[in-house]
Amino acid sequence: MSSMAVQVRFLPEDITVTATEGEPLLQVAARAGVVIPTGCLMGSCHACVVDWETQPGAEPEVVRACLSAIPAGEATLTIHLYHDPTW
Ligand code: FES
Repeated sequence: MSSMAVQVRFLPEDITVTATEGEPLLQVAARAGVVIPTGCLMGSCHACVVDWETQPGAEPEVVRACLSAIPAGEATLTIHLYHDPTW
């Protein structure tokens, strides 16, 4: 079975790139020219936290970009970058 293409949209830059299921999120962001801050790359520092919505209008999920890959079964994914974390 071939991998499904997923349209990944990065906000607030509003850049959309095509990714494949299972592709690491940081790799997709790099291809889009979007910088997601990173630190440990192991899931412990939370520097890389972003929100994503797997469907328009869906409840956004908070994910660590360094641990995240493009989920299967979604045609689109919207990523909200955190530029100004309040925590
Ligand atoms: S870079 Fe540290 S949690 Fe992702």
